[in-house]
Amino acid sequence: MRPHSINQLKGELQVLLRALTDFGRLNALAALAHPVVTDKLRYARGFYETTRQAILLEELLYQKFQVKKGFVAWSADCNPRLAGVLTDGSIEQTPLRSLLRSVRAAISNHAILVRPALDATEMLSELRQAVGELIGTSPELDGIRLPFDQSPSGGEAGEKVVRGPSTLGVDPAFTPSYSLLNQPSPSFGSQLHEAAPYYWTLSLREAFASDVCALSAVECDYLPLQFYADMAKQCWDEVRHARFYFDFSVSLFGPLLSQLPASSPLAAVIRNYHDTGSGLPIPTELNFYHTFLDATLAERLILMQVRTETPAIKRLGVRLQSELAAQHPDLAQAIEIDRCDEKSHSRIGWSWLRFLFPDPVQRRLLIERTDLLRSLFILLSVSHTGGGTMGELLSTFSGTSSHLQDAPEVAS
Ligand SMILES: [Fe+2]
Ligand SMILES: [Fe+2]
Repeated sequence: MRPHSINQLKGELQVLLRALTDFGRLNALAALAHPVVTDKLRYARGFYETTRQAILLEELLYQKFQVKKGFVAWSADCNPRLAGVLTDGSIEQTPLRSLLRSVRAAISNHAILVRPALDATEMLSELRQAVGELIGTSPELDGIRLPFDQSPSGGEAGEKVVRGPSTLGVDPAFTPSYSLLNQPSPSFGSQLHEAAPYYWTLSLREAFASDVCALSAVECDYLPLQFYADMAKQCWDEVRHARFYFDFSVSLFGPLLSQLPASSPLAAVIRNYHDTGSGLPIPTELNFYHTFLDATLAERLILMQVRTETPAIKRLGVRLQSELAAQHPDLAQAIEIDRCDEKSHSRIGWSWLRFLFPDPVQRRLLIERTDLLRSLFILLSVSHTGGGTMGELLSTFSGTSSHLQDAPEVAS
């Protein structure tokens, strides 16, 4: 049915905007559900591109019709808990795939429905173009239509309305092999036997940083659309960092094998990876998921963007001057891009922290409190990955130092 009035058209476009927002967030959930980096990359990109389309439509609705920019909330049709996609702490892959397919089809069908009203006048040509880009190229599923239910009117900014999965998978290239309680994770060095383990371990952290962004975008409602766009940008950035650093590490395996004695444990790891595509050792603490799962949105922003990524900008500058970067121009370029990305991630963290806590005193107190609780958040992850009960860990680690001090780099 063709809209008859500008008011009706505005309503139809707002429905489309809501569906795009939901679809972006469902892509974020799919990125979380897939541990293999190539799959994660596809959904992180979908999250980014869909949210960018939503931002454009929101801006055009504001410019053209003065539609006020509102806060984002899951529609009842797409809320992962209500839709049976996130149940008992697990992401249900088959219903998620089918929900993604049907929402994509509904967006396209709705765009087809709205388009004639926009074709009728040149005065709406920017909207015609934006809506035209939402029309799919393949035949859509019949009978699937918007609108979704109107979002609830509001709640507290950043409120967790769903809880993310209770665990995350790890890319099968890796095998949890050592605990950070006993052994530090590999340090950066320009020698190949240092660089290869360092970069495959870094790729795990990078993939996890993307997971934290996806998790916050899935769980938290009642924030401006720009928040989800920022999470989507960082989510996609981080998976691309993960992909590059992993491939870079693997590219060193050949030259490294020719340097190592056949009896070297690292040579055995590389030969096994070549044979099986698996077995690269990573910490048993995995990705410190539980450090972030139970944290509030503001605490996550402090733990990751403020306390980890802001200092990483300087660290990347040092890496850029390394012998390894001088010998590998592709690595040098990636580090430069990564450093630019980290600056934007730091800005994202600070800007949303200011949004959530506009009062500077409250904000400072929250940062101080999170710094104090940081060790507890880290021990939660150790406990969840078999390191002992919280009581045991607290009595072991109170007042001592350990390799867990590496955990500032849990995500970057
Ligand atoms: Fe980052
Ligand atoms: Fe990164």
